[in-house]
Amino acid sequence: MYKIKDKKALNNDVDWMRVHAPLVARNAKPGHFIILRVDEDGERIPLTIADIDGEDVDIIYQKLGYSTQRLGDMNIGETIADFVGPLGQAAHIRDKKHVVGVAGGVGAAPILPQLRAYKEQGTKVTLILGARNEDYLVLEDTFEKLCDRVIITTDNGSKGQKGMVTDALEPLLKDDESIDHVIAIGPVIMMKFVAKMAQAYQKSIDVSLNPIMIDGTGMCGNCRVDIGGKTYFACIDGPDFEGQEVDYDGLMKRQNYYKDEEHVCYLRLKND
Ligand code: NAD
Ligand code: FES
Repeated sequence: MYKIKDKKALNNDVDWMRVHAPLVARNAKPGHFIILRVDEDGERIPLTIADIDGEDVDIIYQKLGYSTQRLGDMNIGETIADFVGPLGQAAHIRDKKHVVGVAGGVGAAPILPQLRAYKEQGTKVTLILGARNEDYLVLEDTFEKLCDRVIITTDNGSKGQKGMVTDALEPLLKDDESIDHVIAIGPVIMMKFVAKMAQAYQKSIDVSLNPIMIDGTGMCGNCRVDIGGKTYFACIDGPDFEGQEVDYDGLMKRQNYYKDEEHVCYLRLKND
């Protein structure tokens, strides 16, 4: 059993949680994820590790579905039945001079350990942190301390530059020749357009893919993604991949497979 050591709401939909999981903490590297189950009957929830603090693992999750809502209902001191990891392949921390991170909404959580690893090796780090409005900006203070520069965008202009992350990325790629790599994590549609832009400016790009996962060990095939005409399993080959040749449209279609069932479960929980 895994004790919840700390927890806070980052906004109405998103929580931060610190879980005591010494074995996961000892072995986790940037890009790794865990799969948790709230209790023995619970659905498996895959979450990219946001940070490590001693023997504790930090996760950030959006309470959009039945299972994440149940996780959100748990309190400090309670225990989670399963917390398995680290899973997947660690992200490639490449030998680069100036990396631009592009984080959309709750996608800011998994980008943190990667940007920290880049900073530690002496790479200059710029971050574009985008959200639909000011309340949905995640980990802003942490990024301000870590990065050389943080550019905030909000869809409604409530903080920073009004517009999407790509509105801030294009002038950067155009004007700053020192930039030699982009990392994008957020909604698939965002990663699609950031990858297109990186390609247009001949920059390498890594993305973190979040298809539906069931077992997390390469057995069920649910997390398959098409990259450059080849099939990969995000749980064992990823979740991080080079972004240029990902079939983002196929990934978006597959993400919606269980939407109706998820919605019915969510409504049931709300009405209990
Ligand atoms: P959101 O829909 O509010 O979008 C966040 C930001 O992404 C927007 O503010 C905008 O700047 C940008 N964006 C959205 N659509 C865009 C487009 N068409 N072109 C350019 N930029 C665009 O985000 P949310 O509701 O917080 O959802 C976050 C998403 O990130 C979820 O879909 C979640 O599954 C995903 N996610 C991915 C990972 C991962 O490892 N890949 C991890 C956590 C979350
Ligand atoms: Fe089942 Fe990846 S989650 S194969």
